Amino acid sequence: MAKVDKVSRKGIILAGGSGTRLHPLTVSVSKQLLPVYDKPMIYYPLSNLMLAGIDEVLIITAPDQQDLFRNLLGDGSQFGMQLEYAIQDNPDGVPQAFVIGADFIGDDPVTLILGDNIFYGQGLVQQLRQAVYSNHGATIFAYVVSDPERYGVVAFDEEGNPTSIAEKPKRPRSDYAVTGMYFFDNDVIEIAQNLTPSKRGETEIIDVVRAYMKRGDLSVERMGRGIAWLDVGTHDALAEAAAYIQAVDHRQGFKIACLEEIAWRQQWIDDDQLQTLSKSYGNSPYGNYLSGLLEHRH
Ligand code: DAU
Repeated sequence: MAKVDKVSRKGIILAGGSGTRLHPLTVSVSKQLLPVYDKPMIYYPLSNLMLAGIDEVLIITAPDQQDLFRNLLGDGSQFGMQLEYAIQDNPDGVPQAFVIGADFIGDDPVTLILGDNIFYGQGLVQQLRQAVYSNHGATIFAYVVSDPERYGVVAFDEEGNPTSIAEKPKRPRSDYAVTGMYFFDNDVIEIAQNLTPSKRGETEIIDVVRAYMKRGDLSVERMGRGIAWLDVGTHDALAEAAAYIQAVDHRQGFKIACLEEIAWRQQWIDDDQLQTLSKSYGNSPYGNYLSGLLEHRH
């Protein structure tokens, strides 16, 4: 992989929430720290931001969980990046990420990824890089699913332009779910600050997206069948995601979402830094994988 330039765009991972659907797994630990095969869940969304070239990332957590995330990921310098942390007192809505993160975002555009969304596959990196360089308006990704009523749903006209967008509609107007990764320009802060809560008492990310659609500033990119998008919010989804990651890992010998490897391949860290990281994992398969990268170099 060639050197990947860092972009002047901020990243936010929303990793709060009450996680009640996963109780008792999440009674004392955040969902986004649970294992998905061989790594904590948050590695996966963080890897997507890194692959997009985003090196400044804010991780928003529930109040009692921040130290656990900080112990895991630190200040990001080991990956040649900058990680910051913030707290969401109550899970009052996804768009709060932009209100909590307003100072961190500053005047830059921002990409939000939900901490329980996993993306992997052919053409993903190209799509991320395209979205990252569009500094005007909003870009979201739509993905065909068999159960659209569980997600935000976007419908299109014959020319492929978005015509409607709705959160968990009883009668979905298409099979296209809106994934949990959103690219916005800086106006998102003001839009998020002025939202009113929906019937379920939360502000809704779909309302932010709809505001961009009404302005004619929304671009919806479709993710094809070559990409796996997994939203790991249930016990079954967690087990299925682990099996998927394991299958790719065993078959190819390549790891999905190995942050150290991505940082090294993108030339955000050098050989010596990768060596140090590999040693820090001791004689574990993960540590051995990292030292193997330096030996084999493919
Ligand atoms: O995964 C994609 C879907 O994510 C989209 O299709 C939907 O449009 C979007 O609303 C969202 O739906 P969910 O049902 O997954 O939303 P949920 O309320 O479960 O929140 C998503 C994640 O964000 C979850 O891991 C918890 C975290 N969260 C949520 C809220 C509302 C927070 O950290 N803070 C919050 O205030």
